[in-house]
Amino acid sequence: MKMLSKKALCNSHGQDSSYFLGWEEYEKNPYHELRNPTGIIQMGLAENQLSFDLLESWFQNNPDAAGFKRDGESIFRELALFQDYHGLPAFKNALVQFMAEIRGNKVSFDANKLVLAAGATSANETLMFCLAEPAEAFLLPTPYYPGFDRDLKWRTGVEIVPIKCTSSNGFRITESALEEAYQQAQKRNLKVKGVLVTNPSNPLGTTTSRHELNLLVSFIAAKGIHLISDEIYSGTVFSSPSFVSVMEVLIERNLINTEVWNRVHIVYSLSKDLGLPGFRVGAVYSNDEMVVAAATKMSSFGLVSSQTQYLLSAMLSDKKFTRNYISENQKRLKQRHEMLISGLQNAGIRCLKSNAGLFCWVDMRHLLSSQTFEAEIELWQKIVYNVGLNISPGSSCHCTEPGWFRVCFANMSQETLNLAMERIKSFVDSTITSNSQNHHQKNRNSRRKSLTKWVFRLSFHDRESNER
Ligand SMILES: Cc1ncc(COP(=O)(O)O)c(C=O)c1O
Repeated sequence: MKMLSKKALCNSHGQDSSYFLGWEEYEKNPYHELRNPTGIIQMGLAENQLSFDLLESWFQNNPDAAGFKRDGESIFRELALFQDYHGLPAFKNALVQFMAEIRGNKVSFDANKLVLAAGATSANETLMFCLAEPAEAFLLPTPYYPGFDRDLKWRTGVEIVPIKCTSSNGFRITESALEEAYQQAQKRNLKVKGVLVTNPSNPLGTTTSRHELNLLVSFIAAKGIHLISDEIYSGTVFSSPSFVSVMEVLIERNLINTEVWNRVHIVYSLSKDLGLPGFRVGAVYSNDEMVVAAATKMSSFGLVSSQTQYLLSAMLSDKKFTRNYISENQKRLKQRHEMLISGLQNAGIRCLKSNAGLFCWVDMRHLLSSQTFEAEIELWQKIVYNVGLNISPGSSCHCTEPGWFRVCFANMSQETLNLAMERIKSFVDSTITSNSQNHHQKNRNSRRKSLTKWVFRLSFHDRESNER
């Protein structure tokens, strides 16, 4: 007799992806400068640890908030009992204002359209439950955040159909790629319910351009489907072009209160911008009253604890603090990003030009033994086990081209990042030396082989399999 449900056993969770396997390897042998200096450095985790000192000093200066007091009086009992799935009004107001602040106050948000959830994970899944039936599809541009296989598909039964973006145009979304994905879904007999994008993109670290946003809005308008914009990295944009929220585009196109307006939904969370993934604070923002009502009912399954809401409502209401935090955090991210780029450049590795996020999209195609996903995994294994860096292979992000990797830079100290760059440089230097030795050896061999016709044929097969 089967003891577990099909849901518990089905593997659409994606747990066996190299993205999660890399974390497991890291857990077995984590780097520590004193206790384990040869251990694996975690560069596969999009955490922001660069501005904890700012948060900590705010807590120190505001002991009432962290001590669950209001005007010096304990509100412990009030917080202990509060479990309304509508959330604390003060927190929702503070959160929508913070979201507006991040967008340069070019757009404003209404707290009544905001539904709290336990992180963006929960918010994205809630939207899937609200918008799609099992076996209906959402289109996602590739490469995409590996967690989406779990968050969007696993429990809901929703399917993801890739919008295939490529390096030829910097992985930008095009009209033809959108159309092709839509056709592909239809070929698979999947009804398309919407498109989901991350803006800024995880794993690319780029902001979605106004042109792409316009394409997306026109596309969902024409097809009569939804658009979800996961804007979890909106506060991490550290250089131009600046962040444009899809809400801004809707307003520019005079789409307020239209059908399209009601079909655009935003996901947000404090996991990245404030670096608080452990606090589990996320939200769905929707212009559609019915979506808000349904998501609110569903939020019983993933509430944000009352003490977290209380603490953060005080912090986010402190405008002077939030303004300073946002700009200082962006400065620090920019500096780290530059360190990573120049460290990789020093090792002869280039990245996609990026302006946001906690990671870079790194081009290691020249280090592959062949342009295949097998070779990508082979290289990834070397980097994890021999070099001691856990990075995420592009295939775990459903990239259609082998040789790209996501490398995170904001979850470690400057010294650790420097060490990681030293490790990668000596790896690349030794790979290039051994490749050129192999190449000379191969050349010598193939010259010998080309002496006779049938030997020539053999060498042709060798070359073909190398080039695959
Ligand atoms: C694009 C994207 N969406 C959602 C999440 C999940 O975030 P949370 O910790 O708020 O659940 C992540 C986390 O890495 C992410 O990158």
